[in-house]
Amino acid sequence: MFDLSLLQSLMQTTRLGRDVSWHDSLPSTQDLARAKATQGSNEGLIVIADEQTAGRGRQGRTWVSPRGKNLYFTLLLRPKIQQLRGLSMALPLAIVEALAEVAGVDSSIKWPNDVLVTGKKISGVLIDAELEGQEVEYVLAGVGINVNFDPRPYPEIAATATSIVAATSVETSREAILAAALNHLEVHYNSLADDPHSVFTAWRRRLTGLGGPVNVHAPDASALAGIAEDVRPDGSLLLRLPDGSLRSLAAGELEIPASASTPTSSSPGL
Ligand code: BTN
Repeated sequence: MFDLSLLQSLMQTTRLGRDVSWHDSLPSTQDLARAKATQGSNEGLIVIADEQTAGRGRQGRTWVSPRGKNLYFTLLLRPKIQQLRGLSMALPLAIVEALAEVAGVDSSIKWPNDVLVTGKKISGVLIDAELEGQEVEYVLAGVGINVNFDPRPYPEIAATATSIVAATSVETSREAILAAALNHLEVHYNSLADDPHSVFTAWRRRLTGLGGPVNVHAPDASALAGIAEDVRPDGSLLLRLPDGSLRSLAAGELEIPASASTPTSSSPGL
């Protein structure tokens, strides 16, 4: 059972997660958060579900969301438009920090905002931004973190997903992970107003795959192969193409060939 009062007692935030909307089951936390955003809910509201029956990932994928095992939540934020790119860095960074602090799990970020442990995905971020001209009306920052679940019964993710218990053999408090993620996120979110470069630098330091061969699948389904040379402060990826030219990519899905990534270990916890 998820203990909301434990969550509140572990949170040190003033803006994020002070208003909690908890649900046993939702189709997707993104949908309820959107409805609340359009009804004028304040920045910082968090919609959490114990399970999702239609959890969504990026690029139209499904997010496997079984009951009682993991974290599925959407934060309602109202950043300035110039903070949007930084937000996409601050979210995975806060998750990496929370995993290390609470569970001792060493993770990295796969551009732009997947969180990996031994090459497998432990957390994903889905950012839906609603703009009105040059103004942000609201942002729905959806986060899934695999905490205590065994991905092996799910053929679609069995080979590519992991969880905290799979990595450590120890069940971890979902409340503690969520509180730590919100605590770290608020620090980085505040920095986006006056020191966005510090968020970029910390995010860049955690990136995996830089300097090596990658394939990038663009949102329009085209693919490019090259060397992931670096990232720019606006979050775009600099890809060195086989003809020697440098291409800057604002969005896409990075594939790090197995031979170029950290060797994957078996799952000691399962
Ligand atoms: C990804 O593809 O990596 C993004 C996954 C985002 C999953 C989270 S779970 C909470 C929120 N609700 C959803 O339906 N999706 C996001």
